[in-house]
Amino acid sequence: MTWWRDAVVYQVYPRSFQDSDGDGVGDIRGITRRLDEVAALGVDALWLSPMYPSPLADGGYDITDFTGVDPSLGTLDDLAELVAGTHRRGMRLLLDLVPNHTSIEHPWFRAHPDRYIWAGGAANNWKAAFGGSVWTRDERAGRWYLHSFFPEQPDLDWRNPEVPAAMRDVVRTWLGRGVDGFRLDALDSLGKHPDLLDDPPAAGPPPFPDTPDAAGLERRHSRNWMPTIRPVLAALREAAGDAFLVGEVYRPTDELGPYLESLTCAFVFELLFSPWEAEAVGGALDRAAGLDGAAWVLSNHDFGRVGARIGERNQRAAAMLLLTLPGTAFLYQGDEIGLLDGPGGDPPVDRYNRDRVRHPMQWDGGRQGGFTTGTPWLPAVDPAARNVADQRADPASLWSLHRDLIALRHELRGGLELVAAEPGGLLAYRRGDVLVALNLGGDELDLPAGEPLLRTHPGPRLGPGEGAMLRG
Ligand code: GLC
Repeated sequence: MTWWRDAVVYQVYPRSFQDSDGDGVGDIRGITRRLDEVAALGVDALWLSPMYPSPLADGGYDITDFTGVDPSLGTLDDLAELVAGTHRRGMRLLLDLVPNHTSIEHPWFRAHPDRYIWAGGAANNWKAAFGGSVWTRDERAGRWYLHSFFPEQPDLDWRNPEVPAAMRDVVRTWLGRGVDGFRLDALDSLGKHPDLLDDPPAAGPPPFPDTPDAAGLERRHSRNWMPTIRPVLAALREAAGDAFLVGEVYRPTDELGPYLESLTCAFVFELLFSPWEAEAVGGALDRAAGLDGAAWVLSNHDFGRVGARIGERNQRAAAMLLLTLPGTAFLYQGDEIGLLDGPGGDPPVDRYNRDRVRHPMQWDGGRQGGFTTGTPWLPAVDPAARNVADQRADPASLWSLHRDLIALRHELRGGLELVAAEPGGLLAYRRGDVLVALNLGGDELDLPAGEPLLRTHPGPRLGPGEGAMLRG
């Protein structure tokens, strides 16, 4: 059962995918309605960002019932239909599991306070992911609880055996309902030093973007403390059997190894955060190519859209990069049509400025892009300029390029062998007898020799932002 080897997983942000009832919010039935369109791309699986009951302090990552469906998104029956529809089309369905925290409105917080982490005051200098201390005083309890993210998201205490037991039941419940695996949220946050030791001052910049107050600290004791994480991962793996588990670990590639002892794969954030420059991208590929379990990702619901980060000109080459790497590739909804960052909500919905990457899918050129017949919860960005219907009809579109790349991907064999990562811009690597050549620089380059299998752009040379797959 290794369907995920070299698979493509398509990330759906449920509230922004397809509204089926005109309330302006995407829902489960809407996803089911669009399954043929997703299947037409050739992807192997869908991953749904959280669709559980939630007061939406963090876009659904604050959960009040791990085995339910938020009423604004549908019902368990709707989800069963989605599972069946996905399977009927030969695809798998993954859910997002959030083991680090619940919503503060989860009944456990009052009924089982001992499932959370408490102290008499702010017990250390740890900083929350979205800024400020991880400690907040709960007036009712008269004590302080720990939250690695927003104050509305208290962290669970996995040392209380009730927590792993409850999480095991959650995993088994969903697997029993036919789900094929999980994306595991914020895993490094589970790794807290048991003595809650202070984080030391940072010796250098953080490995990945962080809040200004956390950037002065090295997150040595508040995150990624492996002795704490190992048993958690082992418990999740035990519960999941051989189901697919991809971990969100916000750490550099050389720290992913211990996680992969239990996970199927882990996101390679070094690639996502790499500057669009051949040496840097080549380095990120090289460091991750040896991992048994690289999950490649160029964007998701948290960070900037590909085109917004690296420039629209480079979108086609970025697609070729993502979809020719060995391992599991994750494609975020909208990237296949080149959706860019949007203006966000007015007033903002997300308090951490992530509305810009959560705008509705653009299915057609109508005013709301076919997403809703009502008023969307975030405005459409530019459906007339880019949408699925137009791009499906155009064999030269970005959507069609994605479809062609995914079809070809399934024929690629072997690991990744880096051939060139030149300051001038050429990034080239081999998969078996196929050479992938990408121009990440600003000047035209010679097209390497070989029989062209797929080009991002026609022409005698390899211009900036262009890519080619060549045999020989
Ligand atoms: C992960 C999610 C992000 C969420 C956070 C807390 O990083 O991707 O959206 O805010 O975890 O659950």
